[in-house]
Amino acid sequence: MGAAARAVLLLVAVAVVVGGASAQLCEEFYDRTCPDVHRIVRRVLKKAHKDDPRIFASLTRLHFHDCFVQGCDASILLDNSTSIVSEKFARPNNNSARGYPVVDAVKAALEEACPGLVSCADILAIAAKISVELSGGPRWRVPLGRRDGTMANLTAANNDLPGPRDNLTTLQQKFAAVGLDVTDLVALSGAHTFGRVQCQFVTDRLYNFSGTGRPDPTLDAGYRAQLAKSCPRRGGNRTALNDLDPTTPDTFDKNYFTNIEVNRGFLQSDQELLSTPGAPTAAIVNRFAISQKSFFKSFARSMVNMGNIQLLTGSQGEIRKTCRKVNGS
Ligand code: HEM
Ligand SMILES: *[C@@H]1O[C@H](CO)[C@@H](O)[C@H](O)[C@H]1NC(C)=O
Ligand SMILES: *[C@@H]1O[C@H](CO)[C@@H](O)[C@H](O)[C@H]1NC(C)=O
Ligand SMILES: *[C@@H]1O[C@H](CO)[C@@H](O)[C@H](O)[C@H]1NC(C)=O
Ligand SMILES: *[C@@H]1O[C@H](CO)[C@@H](O)[C@H](O)[C@H]1NC(C)=O
Ligand SMILES: *[C@@H]1O[C@H](CO)[C@@H](O)[C@H](O)[C@H]1NC(C)=O
Ligand SMILES: *[C@@H]1O[C@H](CO)[C@@H](O)[C@H](O)[C@H]1NC(C)=O
Repeated sequence: MGAAARAVLLLVAVAVVVGGASAQLCEEFYDRTCPDVHRIVRRVLKKAHKDDPRIFASLTRLHFHDCFVQGCDASILLDNSTSIVSEKFARPNNNSARGYPVVDAVKAALEEACPGLVSCADILAIAAKISVELSGGPRWRVPLGRRDGTMANLTAANNDLPGPRDNLTTLQQKFAAVGLDVTDLVALSGAHTFGRVQCQFVTDRLYNFSGTGRPDPTLDAGYRAQLAKSCPRRGGNRTALNDLDPTTPDTFDKNYFTNIEVNRGFLQSDQELLSTPGAPTAAIVNRFAISQKSFFKSFARSMVNMGNIQLLTGSQGEIRKTCRKVNGS
């Protein structure tokens, strides 16, 4: 073999190795091995929704809280054990992230139908997609083939997930750190069109914003009065629940953005997307507030982007038998 031919072979070998390491997901991943995967997830979710109208929002959030912490590897689902310090007790998750028993039920149904094949990370991605769809949101084909991780990282869960009082610069940085841009930030924040939120995340905006002794000036006065009833200054319940989108609490639509347009974003991190002076996100909020079609299209694309963060594929990681623990532990 000549030097040129050897060089070509080497290049091909390198390309295969590099390509293998960043192996792509594909929509047809379970078509042969577990063709009913979508139907099975949908059935379990619909059943869960009968008892819990909030579950679709909660499952959508779980996928986000999984992907932002060392990638979409189902690390958020691992319980404490001798080898695991669970992310479930990180600040953004403790008494907040929910839906774990429904994920268990989905996993049990899939282990029955096609044992050992469908990863918990893929279950979260499929559950989020079906949850959005069943709530009236966009449909998209979800790329599959993620593998489950064998580690959790409590520190990363505390540091890398965005917080409700993060300023826009910090939000942009946390999204950029996982390869997501400002359009992804605005589109994905649109998930706050459904689900619930505790009083503790808004009381500062109602009564003493940034230590000013006054309410957040970017919060509509009428909405503030309404929220103050549910979340009184003294003697209130920090964990009492409110709708993130009071106009259509359980429907996935563009009202999150029309709310922000009239200073009725619930969280500081929501309103900032429009109200921060010079915000690069403001024009995108305006675009989505005008056109649900534009929002839906971007949301679907951004969910796929989020679902691609730092993946384990091929023979990396494992397919967990139980989502709450690493195999053999
Ligand atoms: C941009 C930064 C974000 C911040 C600061 C943020 C913060 C929060 C907070 C504080 C809550 C309320 C939690 C509670 O009261 O227990 C919440 C709820 C929620 N978040 Fe976000 N979030 C962000 C982005 C996202 C993204 C990207 C998604 C999904 C794509 C999402 C989906 C949800 C959903 C659906 C709920 C309601 C969950 C339920 O009812 O169980 N959020 N978020
Ligand atoms: C899990 O471990 C964390 C960190 O050690 C601890 O804060 C938490 O209370 C534990 N939770 C349970 C249910 O054991
Ligand atoms: C999680 O919340 C519980 C209250 O339900 C609290 O006792 C515990 O200290 C919290 N854990 C952490 C790690 O903050
Ligand atoms: C956990 O996350 C922190 C902060 O993101 C990082 O510095 C650390 O290296 C991670 N630990 C492991 C074991 O990956
Ligand atoms: C945003 O928050 C970070 C971290 O708290 C802070 O360092 C930074 O100065 C803030 N930026 C702006 C523009 O307020
Ligand atoms: C508002 O908060 C600041 C600092 O967090 C505190 O010093 C101040 O006393 C509070 N003001 C009122 C009116 O509660
Ligand atoms: C506070 O609100 C939560 C959520 O609605 C509820 O489960 C809990 O019982 C309430 N606690 C009190 C003391 O009212």
